[in-house]
Amino acid sequence: MKLLITGASGLLGINLAMEAIREHKVIGLHRGRLKSAPFQELNVDILNRKELHSILDKTQPDWLINCAALANLEACEKDPLQAKLLNSELPGELALACEKRGIRFVHISTDAVFDGTKAGMYTEEDEPSPPGIYSQTKLDGERAVQAVNPQAIIGRVNFYGWSLDGRRSLAEFFVSNLKEGKNVNGFTDVIFCPMLVNDTARLLLDMLYKDLSGLYNVAGVQPMSKYQFGMEVARTFGLRQDLISPESVETSSLTAKRSHNLWLSIHKLSTDLGCEIPSFSTGLAEFYTQFQQGYPQKIRSYQH
Ligand SMILES: NC(=O)c1ccc[n+]([C@@H]2O[C@H](COP(=O)([O-])OP(=O)(O)OC[C@H]3O[C@@H](n4cnc5c(N)ncnc54)[C@H](OP(=O)(O)O)[C@@H]3O)[C@@H](O)[C@H]2O)c1
Repeated sequence: MKLLITGASGLLGINLAMEAIREHKVIGLHRGRLKSAPFQELNVDILNRKELHSILDKTQPDWLINCAALANLEACEKDPLQAKLLNSELPGELALACEKRGIRFVHISTDAVFDGTKAGMYTEEDEPSPPGIYSQTKLDGERAVQAVNPQAIIGRVNFYGWSLDGRRSLAEFFVSNLKEGKNVNGFTDVIFCPMLVNDTARLLLDMLYKDLSGLYNVAGVQPMSKYQFGMEVARTFGLRQDLISPESVETSSLTAKRSHNLWLSIHKLSTDLGCEIPSFSTGLAEFYTQFQQGYPQKIRSYQH
C-alpha cells in the first residue's frame, strides 16, 4: 500500500513511518525538520491547502494517517488560532479530501478530550468534556472528521517513544534527566495509559488492514500515574528512582489544565481487532531494547 503521513517529523509520525516502511511505500510530509529519512519525504506547510491538495493528486496514496497537530498543551493556550487551524479545521478538510479521492483516512486524536472527573475508565461511549484549548480543538477536529467522512478511523491515543529531538516524550524526559543525575518531579495525580509509540503505530496499521472505521481508544492497557511511569522507566534503565519526587500537578508550573484520570478502555479495539493489546511491560522492554540497539540515535540522525 502507499501510505501518506502528515506530521512525519513528530513523535508518532516518524515512528509510524519506520514501522510502515517494512511493508509499505511511505511518503512523509514535514516542514523542513527531516533529512535523509529512509522513506520519501515532501517538505510542505500543510496549512497551504493548494499544495496539500496537489500532493494528494500527485501521490495518490491508498491510506493517509494524519499525525500533524499542535500537540503541545501550553502552545495551544498561547496560540488558540493556530490550534484551531491545525487541530480542528485541517482534519475536517483532509477527511473530506480523502473521502472524495477514495483514500482511507485515519485521524489521530487524544485521551485528553476528557476532563478526568470520572471514577473508572472512559469508553468510546462517554461524552467528552475537554478542559482546555488543546482538548477542545482536538474534539472539534474529531467532529469535523466524523461529519464528512464516517468511514474514517479516529484513534484517541497516548504514547511514548524516541523522537527526532530526543525531547518529545515523557519517557525521554525521565531517561535524559535521570542519566544526568538530575532531580525530577512525577505527578501522582495524573493517571494515564501510556503505550510504546511503535505499538500504537502497528495497531493503527492493523486497524487499516482490518478495515475498521469510527472512533477507537488506542491507548495502553495499564493505567498508572506519571510518577509510577517514571519509576518504571528508571527501574528498566537501571537509573536512580530516588531522584524522582512525587508531586501534584496542581502545584506544578504548568498553565494548561491537566485531567486527573485518563484511563481509557481498550475493550472495543481489542475486540474488533481480535487480538490482545500489547502489555505495558512488553512495550517498555522494547523501548529499552531500542535504546540498547541505537534506535534513538538512528531516529535523531534524520533531524535536519
Ligand atoms: N504525544 C502523546 O502522547 C499524545 C497524546 C495524545 C494525543 N496525541 C496526538 O497524537 C498526534 C501526534 O502527536 P505527536 O506527539 O507525534 O506530536 P508532535 O511530535 O508535536 O508532532 C506534530 C507534527 O505536526 C507537524 N506540523 C505542525 N504544524 C504543521 C504545519 N503547519 N505543516 C506541516 N506539519 C506541521 C509537526 O512538524 P514540525 O516537526 O515541523 O513541528 C510535527 O511533525 C497529535 O494529533 C496529538 O494530538 C499525542
